[in-house]
Amino acid sequence: MPLPNHPFQIANSLAKARLGGRTPLKVTHLLTYACNVECGFCTRIHIPSETMEPHQVLAMMDSFARLGTRWWVFNGGEPTLVKPLGQYIERARSLEFHATMVTNGTGVAARIDELKRLDLVICSIHGPRDTHDRTLGREGAFDEAMRGVRMLRDEGVEVCLLCVLNERNRDLLDAMLCLGEELGVGVAFQPVVETQLGGAQVPLDLVPRQTAMTDAVNWLLEQKMADRPVSCSRAYLEALMDSWPNRPFGANCWAGRLFCEVTPEGFVVPCCSEEEYTFARCHGPTVGWERAFLALPDRSECRSCWFKGPQEINLLLSMQPSHLKRAATNAARGRLLWD
Ligand SMILES: C[S@@+](CC[C@H](N)C(=O)[O-])C[C@H]1O[C@@H](n2cnc3c(N)ncnc32)[C@H](O)[C@@H]1O
Ligand code: SF4
Ligand code: SF4
Repeated sequence: MPLPNHPFQIANSLAKARLGGRTPLKVTHLLTYACNVECGFCTRIHIPSETMEPHQVLAMMDSFARLGTRWWVFNGGEPTLVKPLGQYIERARSLEFHATMVTNGTGVAARIDELKRLDLVICSIHGPRDTHDRTLGREGAFDEAMRGVRMLRDEGVEVCLLCVLNERNRDLLDAMLCLGEELGVGVAFQPVVETQLGGAQVPLDLVPRQTAMTDAVNWLLEQKMADRPVSCSRAYLEALMDSWPNRPFGANCWAGRLFCEVTPEGFVVPCCSEEEYTFARCHGPTVGWERAFLALPDRSECRSCWFKGPQEINLLLSMQPSHLKRAATNAARGRLLWD
């Protein structure tokens, strides 16, 4: 993974954060809550919402660039359903952001000319063909995603698969790593998190028990040591094992201080677990993006989720020498920091 531009500016923002300053270094924009499939564990698609107009999204990206943002993530809902996505990707490029998209992959092939401009695509795959299609409730979803992944890879876009570890696929992790090996891409894992956004609940029979999770994560650690393409840091896997299912995760959180999310209607929130807590003072199009970001609550003491995105950053920023060494070695090899 190429490091983003302006490394000194990033180092400066990190140093300021240690003294209490806030810079939205990484922004995740949930372009929409709409989706073309229905994964059993996803409650986000049940949230009713408006979306910002394209000119508001572009103005938001410009504002965050001025505030020091270097990483931009297009997420959702399903971002490939959003018509002006190509325009947003071009703006991310002109602002020199490192641009990532998280997708179920079904819409990638149809929009490859726009998507090949991304730096990284995280494609969610939750098992081999049958399991994946059943999880999304769409026959053919696996094959559509594989076609998209191959096209992206041929265009030179970095790709990583993301598997939500749940009761249905915890015995199929070897097949997931074989798939990563066949495609030449990393496979990231995060456990199913019991979010309750939109009033919906994750079905309890999808949530692995403690011993099942420990076995699965131990196995992943062994495979990582054997150099298989597990794209989770060792620190993340160990912290997951120590905390699952009801102990606090082992690192302070930088949500709202170094990273944040923006909902489709333009509320700035610390992280994806907090989309429901949308305050008028955090509505970017109304109060301005800097004020909206600076009005976020302090979440430094929160340790209540296992989402890989924020927790890998939190572990890295906990400055343990072993985490930093591994990340630096990966960066020097042009790999994702948590490979
Ligand atoms: C909400 S989706 C949006 C992007 C795109 N539609 C996709 O599925 O990749 C972002 C990621 O969150 C994961 N996810 C959704 N609900 C989850 C949950 N309850 N626990 C853990 N991960 C979840 C999805 O599988 C996906 O990898
Ligand atoms: S594809 Fe993504 S947004 Fe759609 S239901 Fe699945 S996890 Fe949710
Ligand atoms: S620990 Fe998780 S839920 Fe808590 S603020 Fe951080 S990202 Fe959000």
